[in-house]
Amino acid sequence: MTIRNKLIAGNWKMNKTSADAAALARDITSVAGQRTDVEVVICPPFTALESAAQAVAGTQLRLGAQNMHPEKSGAFTGEISAEMLRALFVSHVILGHSERRTLFGETDGFINLKVLAALKNQLRPIFCVGETLTEREAGATLKVVQAQVERGLEGVGREQAVEIVVAYEPVWAIGTGKVATTAQAQEVHAFIRSLLTKLFGDVVAQKIRILYGGSMKPANAPELLAQPDIDGGLIGGASLEARSFLELVTAAAAAK
Ligand code: 13P
Repeated sequence: MTIRNKLIAGNWKMNKTSADAAALARDITSVAGQRTDVEVVICPPFTALESAAQAVAGTQLRLGAQNMHPEKSGAFTGEISAEMLRALFVSHVILGHSERRTLFGETDGFINLKVLAALKNQLRPIFCVGETLTEREAGATLKVVQAQVERGLEGVGREQAVEIVVAYEPVWAIGTGKVATTAQAQEVHAFIRSLLTKLFGDVVAQKIRILYGGSMKPANAPELLAQPDIDGGLIGGASLEARSFLELVTAAAAAK
């Protein structure tokens, strides 16, 4: 048995109005709101954080944002700071998602600033890495993931590193219905843990959760979650309905 409690996080991406988000959050809390055997985090869009915060208040469910700016405040039109998120009872923040990297040009260096700012403000980063299909086919998966991990986590201290959650999301598996095989996923997860061991030492690396993301569904989750280095999931499509999301939470609990 591992020392790591499994974590299931729902990345709602650009879906759900404030009212829809509150309704979904209530549906999830009514079933899983008091669970402590699995950590459950929902990440609605910024505009729904406040209504979702009200829906999860007093439950075990945790609230995450999907992005943030590294600066404290200032002339950054359209951006949101760590302090603003904290004021809405947000505890986690997804950083470096592949959609941010590819569609919005986020670099490893910029993501690194966000990781450091999140940790400084007591927000737990859900730090995403993963290769594209071209990179996998070129045999460059581990090299790409290594560069993302090393650059993204530069300057993070050992004592802060335990707060980080890493998400391995092969870009070719996101929203495509193509899931990585358990062997492909476990190989990269074990490799990420070896990188974390080099950076932060074995004790800390054993405590860091590494989530898998990319077409995770109730049908494929049990096998993925049974792998020794897969500590949960970062779920897109299947997190938009209470039923499938709750099935994933149940699968995570059963995978202990
Ligand atoms: P899907 O589960 O829709 O493939 O999305 C995964 C993802 O990008 C979660 O961050």
